[in-house]
Amino acid sequence: MAKSRQRKTVTADKTGLASSPSHANRSEQAASVLAQEPGDTLTTNQGLRISDNQNSLRAGARGPTLLEDHILREKIMHFDHERIPERVVHARGAGAHGVFEVYKSMAKFTKAGFLQDPAVKTPVFVRFSTVAGSRGSADTARDVRGFSVRFYTQEGNFDLVGNNIPVFFVQDAIKFPDLIHSVKPEPHNEIPQASSAHDTFWDFISMVPETTHTIMWAMSDRGIPRSFQMMEGFGVHTFRFVDETGKASFVKFHWKPVLGVHSLVWDEAVKLAGKDADFHRRDLWEAIDKGQYPEWEFGVQIVPEEDEHKFDFDLLDATKLIPESLVPVKLIGKLTLNRNTDNYFAETEQIAFHPGHLVPGIDFSNDPLLQGRLFSYSDTQLSRLGSANFHEIPINRPIAPVDNNQRDGHMRQTIVKGRVSYEPNTLGGGCPMQRPWEEGGFVSHAEPMEGAKQRVRSPSFADHFSQPALFWRSQTKWEQDHIAAAFCFELAKVGVPAVRERMVATLTQVDGVLAKRVADGLGMPVPPPPNAENVPRTNKPEIDRALSMANTRISSIVGRSVAVLIAQNVDKKSVDAVCKALASAGATAKLIAPGLGSITCGEGESLDADHSLPTVGSVLFDAVFVPGGKKSVDALCADANAVLFVKEAYKHGKAIAASEDGARLIAKAALSAGAADGKFRGPGVIADSGKAVNDAFIRKFIAAIAEHRFPERPDLADIVA
Ligand code: HEM
Repeated sequence: MAKSRQRKTVTADKTGLASSPSHANRSEQAASVLAQEPGDTLTTNQGLRISDNQNSLRAGARGPTLLEDHILREKIMHFDHERIPERVVHARGAGAHGVFEVYKSMAKFTKAGFLQDPAVKTPVFVRFSTVAGSRGSADTARDVRGFSVRFYTQEGNFDLVGNNIPVFFVQDAIKFPDLIHSVKPEPHNEIPQASSAHDTFWDFISMVPETTHTIMWAMSDRGIPRSFQMMEGFGVHTFRFVDETGKASFVKFHWKPVLGVHSLVWDEAVKLAGKDADFHRRDLWEAIDKGQYPEWEFGVQIVPEEDEHKFDFDLLDATKLIPESLVPVKLIGKLTLNRNTDNYFAETEQIAFHPGHLVPGIDFSNDPLLQGRLFSYSDTQLSRLGSANFHEIPINRPIAPVDNNQRDGHMRQTIVKGRVSYEPNTLGGGCPMQRPWEEGGFVSHAEPMEGAKQRVRSPSFADHFSQPALFWRSQTKWEQDHIAAAFCFELAKVGVPAVRERMVATLTQVDGVLAKRVADGLGMPVPPPPNAENVPRTNKPEIDRALSMANTRISSIVGRSVAVLIAQNVDKKSVDAVCKALASAGATAKLIAPGLGSITCGEGESLDADHSLPTVGSVLFDAVFVPGGKKSVDALCADANAVLFVKEAYKHGKAIAASEDGARLIAKAALSAGAADGKFRGPGVIADSGKAVNDAFIRKFIAAIAEHRFPERPDLADIVA
């Protein structure tokens, strides 16, 4: 028998730094995810060495299997129970570890320990998700994205369980199950998967006008992000900061991506669902793997308690945001994701976020949606994770010490010594003891309360249309075009005409032009507005710059992926020059050829293709480069996949560049796309026919990629792709 290799257990603390168990202090150990490297001997779960993992125990070589085979039964029993219920919402997700650092002490507003000292690196785990689809659904479905951040602070876990859209569909948690039932696959036939484009969703939305603001965001390109790294995040609800003296202020939380906010276009999103259902998950994984760590700045909008009623909307209403033009976002720290998970199930699947996981210095507001969430998460996690002890799963353990008198239950891990499990006690020396605010104990903000016990919606929540209209007015023309097109797409999938009509009637309350465009798209007259409600509306502010993605772009190509189309006899010099320049600007170039294998470039040099044309598509890339080399370009021009690749990239607004002969492929694509003169009309196409790659060419190409997309190309509607 081979000599047994000693099993190594790697303790990785949540900062991503591996440390040996002997060096880890108590809190590091509590925080650690015990990642076990596979040993070299196969055993049962009881440690019994297995001699044959190929054959079950039989009565004779061709006889029946024996019930006695405890090894077979253990293995099959474990396999049978590998699945746990997926999350009832946000089932599809991807996660990563990282760190959070505050820029300077926020003691003036909050006593939260992790917001005091810029020298402290707080470990975090982040999970991004879609809401509606099942665990195996495609990443690029049109949907709100979850943006959950767990801070493992010295004072306990703080979970900021937010979304990439700053407002929510409904104002009261009692409507959440209705909202989710309406968007999920319809119960009679379980269709459609991960899509809001169906009758029941729009039936609900059209009946509940408070959903209008969030539906405007969801129909905008925010609903189809380019990358998790290019999404904003929002705590959505108004929370409270509380300082050391107990003074509170209201706070909204924001995450601002360092790479800017960028999205896909709808046709790309649809095609990506087939070409790479893991598009967002892969992008996050690869960025971290390459050391291009995704980063967000942490922002707060702080409103003093005395200003609570100075807005035209209610701070407790989750269907409203605070326009940044009224209260600027103050950037107070940075989140960096720097370590991929070791095991998806153990970490991303088993993490149990909860908006009620707070630290002293942060508190709730009375937002009725938030209040309902405070019940929902641990309740659902009881059935999802199967036991009240889910806080003991490594990814859920705080780094702060946990001591209390809770005991037992399914799968209890902690072995608490001693005879005392109650409080007060003398037999355990009174331990563990409660602690006042001054000693780090959590004390709820002492907000004065009065009021009749009643089921009622505050009249201050009644204006459902001023902010959707503000959102619409704040978009650029192309963003408005995309919103109108999304409404047309989704509502065209609705089979019941009355639902379509009711929805377009709702849109008349937002903007007449939008309603008309959607009505035209659906081939119906604009219906009369719904019964006028006597609700005050405001047009102030006129616009808010922060609401348009066009104002959040950042001129960087970090994290971008560029396709280089090559075939036999390609000009290697151009390929090398462009790939090198892209790499040093932080982008990745992939060589795409008609088939896999080696491409001969002349003079004994060769290139290896990363992908073959039939297995990829332009939707997987942000830009395309076609290098010269007469024979290479001849081959590409004769390849329908290469021609489609270029015209589709153009249709999706992407930067396209070609040097020397490569320009012929662009012309061929333009011709085949319907441009009679073989010329694309729009910006972002650099086709230097006859010219070799030089610095100016590369600079132009990189600048075009940094534009992200050219959504206003004048001929886009005519392109057949
Ligand atoms: C502003 C409103 C809301 C936001 C931003 C939000 C956000 C999220 C996010 C990001 C997740 C995924 C957590 C993860 O990554 O594991 C999640 C899960 C969930 N949310 Fe919400 N949610 C909201 C409203 C609600 C409401 C009102 C309820 C119920 C009353 C609710 C119930 C749930 C449940 C049951 C899960 C699954 C949790 C799990 O299984 O771990 N959410 N939510």
